[in-house]
Amino acid sequence: MKGIVIYKGKYGATAQYAEWIAEALYLPLYDLDKQFIDQLETRDTIIIGSPVYVGKLLVKNWLFKNARLLKNKKILLFIVCGAAGDKIKQEQVIKQNLPGWLAKSGEIYFLPGKVDMKKLSWWDRFLIRMAAMMQKDPTKRQAMRRGYDAVKREHINDLIKNVLHYANTEKVI
Ligand SMILES: Cc1cc2nc3c(=O)[nH]c(=O)nc-3n(C[C@H](O)[C@H](O)[C@H](O)COP(=O)(O)O)c2cc1C
Repeated sequence: MKGIVIYKGKYGATAQYAEWIAEALYLPLYDLDKQFIDQLETRDTIIIGSPVYVGKLLVKNWLFKNARLLKNKKILLFIVCGAAGDKIKQEQVIKQNLPGWLAKSGEIYFLPGKVDMKKLSWWDRFLIRMAAMMQKDPTKRQAMRRGYDAVKREHINDLIKNVLHYANTEKVI
C-alpha cells in the first residue's frame, strides 16, 4: 500500500480527521506546517486535508506548487469547514481553490469542522463575528457566535470505504 496522509490545519479539526484516516488505513501522516514531505514521489495515493478560512483552503498554494508531482497520482481531498452540507458553498470552494485537473479528477469530501471561540486568535474571532453578523439563518448565526463542534469519526467512513475499495479492485495503493 503506497498511500500517504498530508494535512494543514489551524485549531485541530483537520488534524483530528487526518489522524483518524491515517490510523484506519495504516498510512504515514504528515503535518505540512511541521514536516518536510520526503515521500511524495514514491506514493501513488495522496490523501490531503485542509480547512476553509474565509473561503480559502489552507493548502491552496501547496496544491498549485506541487501540481506537477500530484497530477499523475490518485488524490483524495478532505475539506473541513463550517458549511460542509451546503452544496453551493462547496462548489464555490472547489472553483476558487482547486486547480482544474484536481477539481475534475480528484475525489473531494466535505467534512464538518469545529470552532472553539476560546481558542481562536483575536483576529479569527473578529472575522467569525463579522461573518455571523452577515448570516441570515438564525441557527447558523447562533452557532457562529457561540462556536460548535461537529467533528465525528463517522464522517470519514465514505473516504475510508472508497480507499479500501480501490485497494481491493484496482490495486493502486
Ligand atoms: C476565522 C474563520 C473563518 C472561517 N471561514 C470559513 C469559511 O469561509 N467557510 C467555511 O465553510 N468555514 C469557515 N470556517 C470554519 C472552519 O473551516 C472550521 O472551523 C474548521 O474546523 C477549521 O479547521 P481547523 O480546526 O483544522 O483549523 C471559518 C472559521 C474561522 C475561525
